[in-house]
Amino acid sequence: MKPAVLRILVLIVALASVAFSASSSWGKRNSSDVLLLRENVIRTPVRNSYLSVNVDFPKSGQTNNRTISAIFVYDRFTNSSGAYASLWSGGVGYRFASVNLKSQYNIGINSTVEIYGKK
Ligand SMILES: *[C@@H]1O[C@H](CO)[C@@H](O)[C@H](O)[C@H]1NC(C)=O
Ligand SMILES: *[C@@H]1O[C@H](CO)[C@@H](O)[C@H](O)[C@H]1NC(C)=O
Ligand SMILES: *[C@@H]1O[C@H](CO)[C@@H](O)[C@H](O)[C@H]1NC(C)=O
Ligand SMILES: *[C@@H]1O[C@H](CO)[C@@H](O)[C@H](O)[C@H]1NC(C)=O
Repeated sequence: MKPAVLRILVLIVALASVAFSASSSWGKRNSSDVLLLRENVIRTPVRNSYLSVNVDFPKSGQTNNRTISAIFVYDRFTNSSGAYASLWSGGVGYRFASVNLKSQYNIGINSTVEIYGKK
């Protein structure tokens, strides 16, 4: 295939994964990595509104000396109503991260954020 065709295909796949899956990930998890944070974010829907929740790591008052290797966000609704996850700061290669979960209109949130670090 020509490179341009490939690039368009990659773009289509990327757009499709944004539209149909609220689960996202950054980085790659090595088998020796340690779980630094697992947080379930559950919010009941607010009428006529979106919800926006930040998951920050480390929590205030805590320190983290490990470099983050991977972040996973699992949408637990699994009916394509899940919150959209984006990385607001830090992330892979940093020792901190701020993950934002934005719900869909009139829908709550039921997502799990996992952060792994290098041992
Ligand atoms: C995964 O961890 C092992 C053991 O620490 C290390 O030898 C290996 O290089 C790591 N692999 C990657 C891709 O970081
Ligand atoms: C993290 O690093 C700081 C500064 O080097 C040190 O004081 C602290 O004990 C370390 N914490 C852990 C859990 O290793
Ligand atoms: C969130 O999702 C989990 C897994 O599907 C489910 O067991 C739990 O009841 C859900 N919680 C809410 C409040 O929807
Ligand atoms: C998906 O599941 C959640 C939790 O049960 C619910 O609030 C939401 O309305 C569902 N979305 C659809 C499109 O059914």
